Amino acid sequence: MDARQNSNLFLNLLKSFCMALFGSRKAVGIAGLGFLVFFLSISAPSSNASEKQAQTLQELISRYDTSRCKECHEEIHDQWEKSHHARSIMGIFMDRYLTKGVLSVKNPKEATRKNFPCFKCHFPQMEHASDRVASEIAEAILNKDKKTMKKLNISCLVCHHDKGIVHGLPKAGMLYGPADVKEHPDDHYKLVRKSPIMKRSVMCGQCHGLGPNLEFEHPVQCATLYGSYLHAYIPSGGAKTCQECHMENADHVCPPNFEDRKDVSRRLAQALTLDVGTLSYSSQITPRKFVPTVVVNVRITSKAGHRIPDG
Ligand code: HEC
Ligand code: HEC
Ligand code: HEC
Ligand code: HEC
Ligand code: HEC
Repeated sequence: MDARQNSNLFLNLLKSFCMALFGSRKAVGIAGLGFLVFFLSISAPSSNASEKQAQTLQELISRYDTSRCKECHEEIHDQWEKSHHARSIMGIFMDRYLTKGVLSVKNPKEATRKNFPCFKCHFPQMEHASDRVASEIAEAILNKDKKTMKKLNISCLVCHHDKGIVHGLPKAGMLYGPADVKEHPDDHYKLVRKSPIMKRSVMCGQCHGLGPNLEFEHPVQCATLYGSYLHAYIPSGGAKTCQECHMENADHVCPPNFEDRKDVSRRLAQALTLDVGTLSYSSQITPRKFVPTVVVNVRITSKAGHRIPDG
């Protein structure tokens, strides 16, 4: 329930209360005004809370803008720009999303945050945005406004602020990294604290999914790879983390990068070893009729930390 619904409910309750007390509409008006002033003054903290939500798409984009991180973390920034995380909605949400099925809308103005369950992982910044932002994004999708969509991604701040801790809320002005940094020279984020999860698989598991997401009005299932990691790889003695296999030397490209076909083929050839054994002979089922026969044994072993493909 948002602040406006809250105050509507409150005013209706107030109206019935005054009608019962004074029995006339005029008195209700005067008494109601008094109560309204009182109500507005006590409701100040809740309006502060809603201020934290970005009210426009531009505000949300600026809040998560990380172009200045590039000044000092150039290599990591360049790697990240090539990663799938940097285009976590481009191309995916342009066709059909919002035009077909249960999430569709006739007019972008109708769209609310409820239309975007997929953003839980593809654009988690949405958690800090108002319904107005949802309708602005709907407009961008329906108008195929790629320039705007390109700005929506899993930025540095999603991983190093919002998702850097699992218990409690991230502190304002603080980043979370693999280690403590005494003084961080950024203008806004002046502290970096060691995150308890940054080097652990659960960090990635926050989005790389366990199974269906049942908390939504229309439950969705997309990525389930973390489930496979926990239930198959770990019990069979696997000991590596996602980061060890996908972020060697903090490589923020996080391969596989499906746009780099050659590298994906190379990685897959390494990961899925193919062991082929053949035995050929001639069989003589009918006398003097030799049939060339071959037995082929193929064994594919996956070295990945989970089933592949997974999506
Ligand atoms: C003016 C330079 C500067 C800017 C701007 C800057 N950083 Fe840093 N950052 C540093 C320095 C210096 C360190 C400490 C040395 C290191 O580990 O690279 C650091 C450390 C970090 C660490 C911790 C590394 C570790 O080993 O634990 C993270 C995470 C980080 N920065 C993220 C960011 C993000 C995200 C931004 C943009 C919001 C940003 N930084 C902006 C200079 C900067
Ligand atoms: C639990 C988090 C989560 C939710 C919710 C989620 N996704 Fe995903 N999605 C991911 C992750 C992580 C990947 C990439 C990993 C993979 O491919 O295994 C992905 C991959 C995809 C891809 C393939 C991307 C590509 O570049 O080929 C599409 C398309 C997609 N999601 C669409 C959706 C849609 C549409 C919804 C909502 C109906 C949705 N996702 C909801 C986490 C999620
Ligand atoms: C998908 C999540 C994710 C995103 C997005 C991300 N990082 Fe990281 N970052 C990590 C993880 C995980 C590590 C720790 C890797 C390790 O040590 O195994 C890390 C490590 C780092 C480090 C320490 C590097 C080192 O050598 O120890 C810096 C600095 C950093 N990130 C900055 C950034 C900046 C700047 C951006 C945006 C351009 C960014 N990160 C985006 C997850 C992320
Ligand atoms: C905030 C949610 C989020 C977090 C945290 C996250 N990812 Fe992702 N990741 C995604 C989404 C969404 C995609 C799909 C983007 C696309 O292709 O459209 C993706 C794509 C990828 C891909 C490319 C393969 C593919 O199928 O698209 C790899 C590899 C990957 N992530 C590894 C990691 C690792 C390793 C970590 C932990 C250090 C991590 N991710 C943390 C959401 C996340
Ligand atoms: C033992 C190494 C290993 C571990 C641990 C591991 N992966 Fe992978 N992963 C692979 C290999 C190998 C592939 C196949 C493509 C490639 O070589 O990158 C792969 C593929 C992927 C893909 C692409 C999925 C697809 O459908 O093709 C994603 C996304 C991914 N891993 C994320 C993760 C995440 C998140 C974790 C931790 C929960 C993790 N991986 C743990 C080795 C590993």
